[in-house]
Amino acid sequence: MTILIVATSNPGKLQEMQTYLKDSNWELQLKPSELEIEETGDTFTANACLKASEVAKATGEWAIADDSGLQVDALQGAPGIYSARYGKTDKDRIERLLRELGNGSNREGQFVCVIAMARPNGEIALQAEGICRGTIEHTPRGTSGFGYDPIFYLPEQQLTFAEMTPEMKQRYSHRGKAFASLLPQLSKLT
Ligand code: IMP
Repeated sequence: MTILIVATSNPGKLQEMQTYLKDSNWELQLKPSELEIEETGDTFTANACLKASEVAKATGEWAIADDSGLQVDALQGAPGIYSARYGKTDKDRIERLLRELGNGSNREGQFVCVIAMARPNGEIALQAEGICRGTIEHTPRGTSGFGYDPIFYLPEQQLTFAEMTPEMKQRYSHRGKAFASLLPQLSKLT
């Protein structure tokens, strides 16, 4: 088993990554908490690559990072790469988004996830992207998941992400889709 450092401090993301990589021959380890990488990029891809590369160089191990966020059409793609910085807590972030969206009829949006994997020398070895389109609910529903899950609704499933089982979210979500395209490439690396 090769060690793979997960470059995140978000427990929700870590839990999902563990599920996606459970049958792989990588041993996941959480990045040291003192190692904080500032997200200075202006795209999901730039930030995912930055986090993976910096954590790999600092630890001397392979590293994987995900940069993700919610883009709301009527808010011109906001909060986008600022999704984690849109408020102090998940509750604050959801309240701000619902306030800014008001009662507008266009409630469409999408979750985007870019995953980057870096070699121990910091060089990016793999990248993958996943997108999941849906609509924004007027009030939060469901208790699973994390972040904006309670207000992100998938019309085809008639459920918010927070009402789905982890397996369902894995199947439809932006992160699930990004991992589905990453996994075949990942098995060729080792
Ligand atoms: P970052 O990738 O660390 O910059 O954070 C992305 C932010 O987007 C998270 O803190 C969440 O607020 C939000 N986000 C990303 N993926 C999801 C998801 O699967 N469900 C709900 N919120 C998400």
